[in-house]
This record gives sequence, C-alpha cells and structure tokens, in this order.
Amino acid sequence: MTITSESVSTVSARVDGTEIEIPEGATVLDACRQAGADIPTLCYGPTMTAANACRVCVVEIEGSRTLVPSCSRKLEDGMEITTGSDRARHSRRLVMELLGSASELDRAGERLDRWMTEAGAQPERFGAPGPESPREAPAPGHHHPADPKFAATVAEPAKVEDDLYVRDYGRCILCYRCVDACGVEHQNTFAIAVAGRGFDARISTEFDVILPDSACVYCGNCIAVCPTGALAGKIEWDMREAGTWDESSQEVTRTVCSYCGVGCNLDLHTQDGRIVSVTSPHDHDVTLGNLCIKGRFGWMYVSSGRGV
Ligand code: SF4
Ligand code: SF4
Ligand code: FES
Repeated sequence: MTITSESVSTVSARVDGTEIEIPEGATVLDACRQAGADIPTLCYGPTMTAANACRVCVVEIEGSRTLVPSCSRKLEDGMEITTGSDRARHSRRLVMELLGSASELDRAGERLDRWMTEAGAQPERFGAPGPESPREAPAPGHHHPADPKFAATVAEPAKVEDDLYVRDYGRCILCYRCVDACGVEHQNTFAIAVAGRGFDARISTEFDVILPDSACVYCGNCIAVCPTGALAGKIEWDMREAGTWDESSQEVTRTVCSYCGVGCNLDLHTQDGRIVSVTSPHDHDVTLGNLCIKGRFGWMYVSSGRGV
C-alpha cells in the first residue's frame, strides 16, 4: 500500500507479540514487515492487486481456522498475528519446495534464495529441475520431466523471438503478474493470457503466435513484474546464459526519459560501463514502474557501436 501524509486513521495489531500501529488500509503483510518479520512473497507485487496465487506468504491469525495469505488480507484492529508457528513455517517451506521442484527459480534473486535457505526448503525432495535436468519440451500430453505430479509449469525451451526480450517459461510459477500487468492492471494490451488447464496451464499469446505477431507493444511492463526471471530483457538473458551477469557489480543511475514530455523516471543498470537493462522505480506514483517501448528498450543505440 502507499502510505501518504493524508492517512490519518490507524489500526493496531500484534505481530509475534509486538504491538504495531499502522495506517488503515494496510495489509497483514504490511504489518508483519513493519514489525520486522521477513515474510516471503512471490506473486505479490507492490504495484499490483494481490493475486493470491502462490500462498508462500501465509501466517496464522488468532481465530482463523486456516492459514491466511498475508499479502491480500486487510489488517483489522486487534488482530493477533503469528508469523513463525510450526504450521505456517511448514506450509511456506512446502510451497517453496513445490514451486522450486516445478520451475527453475535460480534467477528469482537473492531474496528467494535467502527465504529458501532460512526455511530449509529442499525442492529436490520432489525432483527439482537442476542444471542437468532436460530443458526441451516434453512429448505431447506429457509434462515436466522432473515430476509430473507436482509440475506447476509446462516445460518448454526459452522463446527467443526478437532482440528485446525472452520468455523462458521453464522459470514460470504461474503467478499471473505478467498477465495482469499486460491487461487490466497496467497496460490494457491483453497480449498474453493463461492458456490450458491444470498441469497444462501456461502463459501464452493468443493462438500461441510468436510475440512479434501478437498484440504485444513491447512495453516490457510484464518483465518488470515477473518475480522469477521467466521474462527478461534479451541482453540480461544472454549475459545470464553466458554467466557474465553480475548484479553485485552493477550501478544504477536514475535519469529522466528523453523521448517525450511525460518525463518517466528511468533507472539505468550499468555493468562494466555498459547499459545492461532499464527499469523504472515502482514507487513512482505516476508510472508505478511502467514504461513504453522507448523508455524500456530505446537506449540500445548507446552501445550500438560496440557490437552489442
Ligand atoms: S511487453 Fe507489454 S504488451 Fe508485450 S506482453 Fe509484456 S506487458 Fe504485454
Ligand atoms: S512469466 Fe513471470 S510474471 Fe508471468 S506468470 Fe510466469 S512467473 Fe509470473
Ligand atoms: S505472495 Fe501472497 S499469495 Fe503469493
């Protein structure tokens, strides 16, 4: 949620015994984070309506029979929240293990690594897709080779269809953030949607056409919200494949897009003096991290003389 100076009403709750007070409209997750509890999240994004898809953020709330997804539950006055009970920890660990067994989460970032380590998650218990696992598409009617029972994604080779971005659905956890970003939440282009059912559910363009033939306008706003690296800029994807992507050595420089008068903020990510990706700050109340094709990808001329 966005906490503004006009937020005057507050609610009080207890998180793991700590009394907190927070502006009305906050979620249970907001309260947990204010209390210092590091709750894992995957499908939750700060600029999007909670999709409630992954359930990796569950906590216990006194009086509630079931575990509660903290990212979507509105905080109520007097709530007693427990984040570290055996039941909640067990459930979060299991979700991480099942997602990790069905999708390659190696690009989901340091935060997920930390959460999985802290939880003691072992996706290999269910047949994690490791580096040696086959990446090619399964035979028709079959699913992920690792363990069909728990497959959450359809295994398929990465879709490299243009110079701008890559769709690598072997890393997809079906959180629907990209679909919502492309649709009603941000872009209203509706170039991608969920296709298939059950184990065959996957993100696809209409009639599964290649992206350049779809309604996609290459805003890259789906890349900005994908939590796993299933969607990535082509340069980032190439560098990760080559093992040269090194986020720790990258600098981020805030500037203003020069293409039009809207004035979107751009964060230029540079590595070894080269722009390797462009994002936009999620906490900007005009753009919410969104850009158009010019802001997201229109900087490649800067490196064009270097053959990249
Ligand atoms: S790049 Fe933009 S238009 Fe294309 S699929 Fe992603 S959100 Fe939709
Ligand atoms: S491609 Fe990324 S954002 Fe889209 S559903 Fe898969 S994991 Fe979520
Ligand atoms: S992060 Fe809360 S349900 Fe996914």
